[in-house]
Amino acid sequence: MTPERPSGPFRVGDRVQLTGPKNRMHTITLREDGELHTHHGVLRHTALIGQPDGSVVTNSGGHEYLALRPLLRDFVMSMPRGAAIVYPKDAAQIVAQADVFPGSVVVEAGVGSGALALSLLRAVGENGRLVSFERREEFADVARANVETFVGHVPHNWEVVVGDLVAELPTAVAPASVDRVVLDMLAPWECIDVVADALQPGGVVLCYVATATQLSRVAEYIRGTGLFTEPDANETMVRGWHVEGLAVRPDHRMVAHTGFLIWARRLAPGAVAPEQKRRASKSSYGDEDVELWTPGAVGDRQITDKNLRKRVREAERAAEGARLAAQGPAEDGI
Ligand SMILES: C[S@@+](CC[C@H](N)C(=O)[O-])C[C@H]1O[C@@H](n2cnc3c(N)ncnc32)[C@H](O)[C@@H]1O
Repeated sequence: MTPERPSGPFRVGDRVQLTGPKNRMHTITLREDGELHTHHGVLRHTALIGQPDGSVVTNSGGHEYLALRPLLRDFVMSMPRGAAIVYPKDAAQIVAQADVFPGSVVVEAGVGSGALALSLLRAVGENGRLVSFERREEFADVARANVETFVGHVPHNWEVVVGDLVAELPTAVAPASVDRVVLDMLAPWECIDVVADALQPGGVVLCYVATATQLSRVAEYIRGTGLFTEPDANETMVRGWHVEGLAVRPDHRMVAHTGFLIWARRLAPGAVAPEQKRRASKSSYGDEDVELWTPGAVGDRQITDKNLRKRVREAERAAEGARLAAQGPAEDGI
């Protein structure tokens, strides 16, 4: 599903990220008659068309702009969001730990803003298949528009199912037919039973959760089913470095926490993992514990309906721009 034109000289329809005076960034979609107007002057898109990626061009005011095609991580960090996204550092780990391979059949829920979907689509490749579930129609709209904007079209091997994973998964995929399942949602334990039915023996379920309480609950649920291997969990902290001359040191600031990953593999029908034969259950949960995982208790901030409608409009405008650009010359779409 990679964008159709990820390299070579800039062409009409390409998205280009421009870094101009004072490091201000602009993202444009190239058109024959397009112009970027700022108070520093006018930059005609024709100055870029035919130039190699990484070129520096000058606008009518003599100001220089560095032009690069946005990388997936650039796009994801700046695209419209309905729900919180999976950051690129975690998306990379999800692909690695869940072992998402070219040609695989992958299920994800919820699709949210489509950030993780973009990484999963790249990882499954042209011959793989991604089925994304989302229970909120507006979030699905944002995700569809974001994917279409980045890829340039809606990938043929991607399906978005609107509805709850628990209700929809059993009819959307055949039993024991899915290679990998990735859950990014508040209560992944509610979905583990249907996921177990959908996964092939040896398949991987991976959950991305924000809090330690969610991590604990989903670990115990997976263990309690007896249908999976012992779960593994980790978190990834990425610390940037400042590297300039003799000033070589870690950045002063970093994103210290995003989420935890926990994953396990589906056992063959009837198999009991050796470690589960030895393990006595150490924990269980009652109704009062469940209160700890309500959206408010785990600090999940809900987007307002008004804000969400705005994000849907933004995402759909960007996708419309990408669609028009793919069709040929049209009005400027900065
Ligand atoms: C944090 S967001 C996902 C973000 C997404 N992974 C991304 O990278 O853009 C969580 C999403 O899961 C959806 N969701 C929660 N429970 C669900 C369920 N049982 N079935 C389908 N979607 C669900 C929510 O509506 C929300 O959009």
